[in-house]
Amino acid sequence: MILRLLTTLNYRNLRDQDMRFEDGIHSISGLNGQGKTNVLEAIYLVLTGVVDAGRLQQLVRFEETEAYVKATLERDEGHSIAEVGIGRGKRLMKLDGIRVKSAELLRGGAVFIAPEDSEIVFGSPSGRRKFLDDLLSKISARYAQGLDLYQKNLAQRNAALKNDEQWALEVFDAKLTELGTLLMDLRQRAIQKIQQYASDAHTRIGGRGELGITLQETTSIQGYARDFLLRRSEEFARQSTVIGPHRDDLVLTLRGQPASDFASRGEARTIALALRYAEYELLFERYQENPILLIDDFSAELDPERRNALIELAKRSPQALITGTEPLPHAAHHYRMEGGHLERIQ
Ligand SMILES: Nc1ncnc2c1ncn2[C@@H]1O[C@H](COP(=O)(O)OP(=O)(O)OP(=O)(O)O)[C@@H](O)[C@H]1O
Ligand SMILES: [Mg+2]
Repeated sequence: MILRLLTTLNYRNLRDQDMRFEDGIHSISGLNGQGKTNVLEAIYLVLTGVVDAGRLQQLVRFEETEAYVKATLERDEGHSIAEVGIGRGKRLMKLDGIRVKSAELLRGGAVFIAPEDSEIVFGSPSGRRKFLDDLLSKISARYAQGLDLYQKNLAQRNAALKNDEQWALEVFDAKLTELGTLLMDLRQRAIQKIQQYASDAHTRIGGRGELGITLQETTSIQGYARDFLLRRSEEFARQSTVIGPHRDDLVLTLRGQPASDFASRGEARTIALALRYAEYELLFERYQENPILLIDDFSAELDPERRNALIELAKRSPQALITGTEPLPHAAHHYRMEGGHLERIQ
């Protein structure tokens, strides 16, 4: 997939403008706070519909009420236009003029790589679950639907635990077991591929030592219903559901040790890059179309060896947009971001 034209209106600090892009590697350089991250975020949003729900209204420029982003794309099957309108904390999305839900957007359209990805390694289990849930939701509509229903049922079950409604639990237990089993099954299948792609990539990027990726589950598919019964009194005491996919962790190990405790900053960034590599491969495998690569803050925390490896990944993809405070020497096209205005300089 190639982004040809991006138009934004009232989007954060970006000037209302048309931005044209080519094939190959684009360097977007500029000083801090000029709008480099904002432009990548706008592209990711209009393609995939993904943004943290709580942050939606923040995308609208100060003093304005509505924002709009439009992307003209060249795809294997012809041109496409993706649009998103944001207002009152809600978004409305269109693909080729037809209103769609985010699940129907170009879910495999882009991969976003940022320094904050290190938090997947160092942060809490919820960040790792989010990585897994986001990725699986992109490659499987069943997973996305299952996750949505699971979360709704979970909230209701937790409310029942809080209100001491014993009678309601039987229904929720059955529903959660069914949905949780689906999620666990799809996660288990995907994790093998993620492990394979990510550990290959890890070696290629110059990561030292074996990268391990496993699921740490709070229950098993076979023992799910039994565990609900066994943990019931504990759950009433804690007023929350203690087993299921919402409590499972994605355990990352480097040379056999938990990466969250022992990896250096650079090693964590390398592991996170390997995970994004795996994401890229899985999206390509699922959609048979190359995602657009969006790399924010290119040089942060990476030594020259790893920067080169990242450039190699960028070269493999038909289009990459890479930001940094300095222009990127290997880029085919150079842009400068200043005060929200993107200018082509070469
Ligand atoms: N809703 C908004 N309305 C207006 N300006 C905003 C809005 N949201 C963010 N900004 C501003 O956009 C500016 C650019 O942010 P951005 O994160 O894109 O910078 P950047 O070029 O990536 O900088 P850095 O090099 O530090 O990462 C910031 O100064 C921020 O205050
Ligand atoms: Mg930035």
